[in-house]
Amino acid sequence: MDKLDNLLIETALNNKVGIILAENLHSICNINNAYRIKKEEGFLLEHGGKLRMAAARYNISLDEWLDLSTGINPDNWQGATAPITSWSRLPENEDGLREAACAYYGVTDLLPVAGSQAAIQILPNVYQKSRVAVLTPSYNEHAHAWRRAGHQVDLIDEYQLESAIDSHNTVVVVNPNNPTGLCFSPETLLHWHERLVARGGCLLVDEAFMDATPNNSLAPYAHRKGLIVLRSLGKFFGLAGARVGFVLAEKYFLKKLAEALGPWTISGPSRWIATQALCDQDWQMVMRQQLKSNAIRLSQQLTDYGLSPDGGSALFQFIVTPQAQVIHTYLAQQGILTRLFNNPYPSSLRFGLPGTELEWQRLQQALADLSLSPVLEQSA
Ligand SMILES: Cc1ncc(COP(=O)(O)O)c(C=O)c1O
Repeated sequence: MDKLDNLLIETALNNKVGIILAENLHSICNINNAYRIKKEEGFLLEHGGKLRMAAARYNISLDEWLDLSTGINPDNWQGATAPITSWSRLPENEDGLREAACAYYGVTDLLPVAGSQAAIQILPNVYQKSRVAVLTPSYNEHAHAWRRAGHQVDLIDEYQLESAIDSHNTVVVVNPNNPTGLCFSPETLLHWHERLVARGGCLLVDEAFMDATPNNSLAPYAHRKGLIVLRSLGKFFGLAGARVGFVLAEKYFLKKLAEALGPWTISGPSRWIATQALCDQDWQMVMRQQLKSNAIRLSQQLTDYGLSPDGGSALFQFIVTPQAQVIHTYLAQQGILTRLFNNPYPSSLRFGLPGTELEWQRLQQALADLSLSPVLEQSA
């Protein structure tokens, strides 16, 4: 598909026009397909990992894509497949998942949920309407969920956090932050937590990307009143499709959340896989090292071609550049999907980790071509 096709599709998507004039039927099919997918999404927020949408938009088949648009570990845990009985029997809370997770996070109690997203959505409903400060730019589902539940939400940047602690009931931070990679020390967060609790408030820390740096986690303190920590099996373990996450908080609060969620929130096979992955300490140890060196490699590779990261974590690198859109489109035309952010975010890109050596080489080649391409000069 050429530049004109992409332009037409972008125009159709932006203007919400389903049928537009295009020179060939092929383009019209792609436009309609991309528009249909977009329309069906309704009020759902944008996320990475939308390969089908990209395949329709750029007319590149699904299996040809290198998907770097998420922060999911491409070398996911694959230690075992779930037994057939886990599909046929109702899931039981006493199946060992809770114990495995408690040991992994170093806590005495927690609540397994169907991905930390499930907790993000339900949490605002168990609080009275309040004033909530949410760090931005960040994972935008937090602000969305608090707003939808009727709370007053203030989006604040890192420099406004200090004062927000003394003026809001609830403060939400993602640590390490997605997509910026900004990190807060446990000392800073505990200090903020103390101040919030003194006024009857609450600190919510989303640690979806914490597993590579467990020493920075607030998990050991999560039993304290007014502190909630969210964890995910989707990122470090690369098990995003299993939909497993955890809420770490004081017992009374976990009970309240469990009642709000009801029974059997996680499927039997997902519970089984999650339990095995959480117990696999050898894999975890090797993966922490591997991700650390891969993060350095990705950061270096991007820097080598003029895209030096402004932040990052073990699982992604973040680049703020006015040319984000052009770079995103150029790479997508080569079948490499990155995550593009713009308004209300700064114009920026997030690159996840390639998996195989071939994928690393493919990214390197595309970045080399991009650095020589006139598209960058034209947009500068
Ligand atoms: C910061 C953050 N928190 C939570 C989630 C939700 O993850 P999951 O529901 O897979 O645990 C995401 C997903 O991208 C995320 O980026």
